[in-house]
Amino acid sequence: MKVVILDNAADVAKYGADIFIKQISAKADSVLGLATGSTPVALYKELIHAHQNQQVSFSQVSSFNLDEYLGLSGEHSQSYRHFMNEQLFDHVDIDKNNTLVPPGDAKNPLIACHEYEQTIKESGGIDIQLLGIGRNGHIGFNEPSSSLGSRTRVKTLTQETIDDNARFFAEGEFQPHLSITMGIGTILEAKKVVLLATGENKAQAIVDTVQGAITANCPASALQFHPDTVIIIDEAAASLLENKEFFRHIERENQKLESSLAL
Ligand code: GLP
Repeated sequence: MKVVILDNAADVAKYGADIFIKQISAKADSVLGLATGSTPVALYKELIHAHQNQQVSFSQVSSFNLDEYLGLSGEHSQSYRHFMNEQLFDHVDIDKNNTLVPPGDAKNPLIACHEYEQTIKESGGIDIQLLGIGRNGHIGFNEPSSSLGSRTRVKTLTQETIDDNARFFAEGEFQPHLSITMGIGTILEAKKVVLLATGENKAQAIVDTVQGAITANCPASALQFHPDTVIIIDEAAASLLENKEFFRHIERENQKLESSLAL
């Protein structure tokens, strides 16, 4: 697990976006795994900016989103489909037919979950998966106690997550308590994983993810099993890590190695 500690949230977004730009430059038809929440918004802005500067084209890219609220159709303003259109898809040259978000309004969500898994497999698998993290260590909507081998399924949200996400809903507006989410097993099959976290309120989840035991109590800790995960965090999210200096040292060494290879 590579841990990159940067000064602030803007640097986190730039660093993360560069990884996506490199991925798409190396493989124009990359399959992206995408995430919602407030943390990836700045990264999406960087990608839009890069697209406007002709640095990257999404014309051959396809994508799968991690999760969706169960009970909301894609047209609903609180749906994650709507979020993705607004934050990224409407501003780049991606073919929206190639962007998949779990169907929150599926007649039979159990079948829809199975089909989502199948479609990921048929695409050849996810090349690079973007993740945020919940305060309780959830990834996607895999709440604590999720099986580390779980696949796309219906998941009940914890009260903590419902409360954390209440800020996106107007007072009195229906807020779903259920979701469809890729499983932890699904996420672990992505070839590369990029997790972003910023702010002090993520510091405990980051310690549990990076330095804690691998446990269903902190779903993101399963990433310790993944061969190519990078955790990009700002100083505030890194504030509780024990060996920050070592992680900084490793990153400096990695940068040196990368620039010497580029020569
Ligand atoms: C939601 C999403 C997660 C996201 C989390 C944290 O629960 N399902 O994918 O990581 O929120 O969101 P934020 O980045 O707003 O803290």
